Amino acid sequence: MSKVLIVGAGGVGGVVTHKCAQVPEVFSEIVLASRTLEKCEKIKSQLPRPIETARVDADNVPEMVALIRKVKPDLVLNVALPYQDLAIMDACLETGVNYLDTANYEPPDEARFCYKWQWDYQDRFRDRGIMALLGCGFDPGVTNIFIAHAVKNRFDEIHYVDIMDCNAGEHGHPFATNFNPEINIREVTARGKYYESGQWIETDPLSVHQSFDFPEIGPREMYLMYHEEMESLVKHIPSIRKIRFWMTFGQEYLTHLRVLQNVGMTRIDPVKFQGCEIVPLQFLKALLPEPSSLGENYKGKTNIGCMIEGIKDGKPAKYYVYNVCDHAEAYREVKAQAISYTTGVPAMIGAMMMLTGRWKGTGVFNVEQFDPDPFMEKLTQHGLPWTEKFLV
Ligand SMILES: NC(=O)c1ccc[n+]([C@@H]2O[C@H](COP(=O)([O-])OP(=O)(O)OC[C@H]3O[C@@H](n4cnc5c(N)ncnc54)[C@H](OP(=O)(O)O)[C@@H]3O)[C@@H](O)[C@H]2O)c1
Repeated sequence: MSKVLIVGAGGVGGVVTHKCAQVPEVFSEIVLASRTLEKCEKIKSQLPRPIETARVDADNVPEMVALIRKVKPDLVLNVALPYQDLAIMDACLETGVNYLDTANYEPPDEARFCYKWQWDYQDRFRDRGIMALLGCGFDPGVTNIFIAHAVKNRFDEIHYVDIMDCNAGEHGHPFATNFNPEINIREVTARGKYYESGQWIETDPLSVHQSFDFPEIGPREMYLMYHEEMESLVKHIPSIRKIRFWMTFGQEYLTHLRVLQNVGMTRIDPVKFQGCEIVPLQFLKALLPEPSSLGENYKGKTNIGCMIEGIKDGKPAKYYVYNVCDHAEAYREVKAQAISYTTGVPAMIGAMMMLTGRWKGTGVFNVEQFDPDPFMEKLTQHGLPWTEKFLV
């Protein structure tokens, strides 16, 4: 029996709230708070059981502190945007409440995400006797847990990892992003980066690509990108010699993105327009479909997984573990597309791990630092079944 305060009523927030509502024995009370109260009310109206809602500006620490003091939750589950991470962690520190998120902090005026800002809270969270669980979505999140499962249960030692994220869905719009457009476009237009032999190697944006035949989908072109889970995985699993992250994009998406970049619409610095300052990427976000609105007509599947090589029983081995998620099925269950679904389900399970004491500690943690077994079991039970096979 516990009370959770969910912050952020977007695509992921909707899924988390639906999924928490399905497990009343753990989430006996749910409060959903966000900047726009109507979005909380809309999600509330879709649920089979009552929840409370609230309006909050999570960038404002005193406002967050006041809300936490009023609600008295056992856990704050942050599915707003990465910009809010530190303010919400500050509010948790002040009130002594545990914290969970799905994406690492990123300063609004600089397209650079890394764990340093949040890892720097380690001593303060430990001294306060509370826990922060970082990056508990799908990637980061389940991908880290797949790798922790391979390390614990399938290999003597792992050496090479390719994380592969494929969305083969069709949403019917010429151009839209599956999660927050600002965060998505900042991530995709950044320089690529991978880790090999103790070094980070940079590549030009989307310049390295190859085809992969994704189970239940077929061959797709995937592009090397930098992604945050690689930073924590090389820290916590030092046997990793090389790790790369790949994501698929359709030609239509890439063509739109190239044009938007060429005309300056993806810039994040303010420009003067008719006497006002506007940030082109924020303006573009206002024009694009909200990720939470894409679900209704979305068809097709996602496949996200990890190809891992290492040593098993003293011999070289290659292993593939992945999840396939269907957009239309996700919509039928929780009124959301599969990208929000694959993020929201693990966030709910991570919250469940913390609230039931299966994962506990004081300080700041990434998911691969905990036992993957109970989490892997819950993934299958709560809508994200996984498949594994040895290829060598
Ligand atoms: N790990 C993963 O696998 C993964 C995958 C996808 C997404 N994510 C992360 O999940 C999070 C949510 O993504 P999403 O697709 O749900 O985005 P979204 O649809 O844009 O939703 C974000 C929500 O946060 C609210 N919000 C923004 N600023 C706020 C503030 N200052 N105070 C209170 N609420 C605020 C927004 O309110 P308004 O509606 O009023 O703007 C919106 O409801 C992001 O951090 C994203 O990076 C992680």
